[in-house]
Amino acid sequence: MISSPVPGRRALVRAVPGSFTCALQSRPTALNPELARSQHATYVAALEGAGYRVTLLAADESCPDCCFIEDTAVILDGVTLITRPGAPSRLPETPAVAAALSQEQPVVYMQAPATMDGGDVLRVGRWLFAGRTARTNAAGIDRLSAVAAEVGLEVVPVAVAGALHLKSLCTLAAPELIVAVAHRIDLATFRARGLRVLETDELAGGNVLALGEVTLVSADSPLTASALAADGVSVRSIAISEFHRADGALTCLSLRFGAPG
Ligand code: GLY
Repeated sequence: MISSPVPGRRALVRAVPGSFTCALQSRPTALNPELARSQHATYVAALEGAGYRVTLLAADESCPDCCFIEDTAVILDGVTLITRPGAPSRLPETPAVAAALSQEQPVVYMQAPATMDGGDVLRVGRWLFAGRTARTNAAGIDRLSAVAAEVGLEVVPVAVAGALHLKSLCTLAAPELIVAVAHRIDLATFRARGLRVLETDELAGGNVLALGEVTLVSADSPLTASALAADGVSVRSIAISEFHRADGALTCLSLRFGAPG
């Protein structure tokens, strides 16, 4: 297990606010900020254990979803696109994130009517698979495409139905290996590009976080963890149940430099 920072691996996370009780949910249920904070601390420790130097941004009590920091930006090679999150209540999350990320590399912005949640952008090599969802519109994908083209990346739009984000359904588990919730997305998009796909029946299994030598998997998807391990992926399961209750997952909780996915 790596225990000291690896050059180039940096991550930005944002603390869980007390107002997390009011985070957006597709199925309303009581949320426990203390449990979420405990699980968040374990998540941060897992990033650090994988060699990431982690910067913790203070919570904003006026932004109940602010711990889902991935949605506020898309980090590219040499430039970061600050998004316009698709839920109006989440728009005020971006200035603090932009200020922090501008310390690392230049940032550019998205203008109305474009919207995008970073959870809709899955990077695999030179491709950026961009989910068209209720949070990410065509203008958002066009803006990402323009910024990406300037740094030699190609955006591939993907239709998503019945899920919050593209990465609610599929993520990168290892180089050229996608894990995807079965029957929920057109996998031909990935296979046509030579990528392997491991399908899972576990809803929480579609979102894993590849960190180099280790891939984090939600403790709510044990069969996915076993299948990935059988495929040769080194997995670590961590509990993020309180974030699942707010439609969140592993990737949502950080913005990463030096990581695929
Ligand atoms: N609760 C996360 C979101 O809906 O954006």
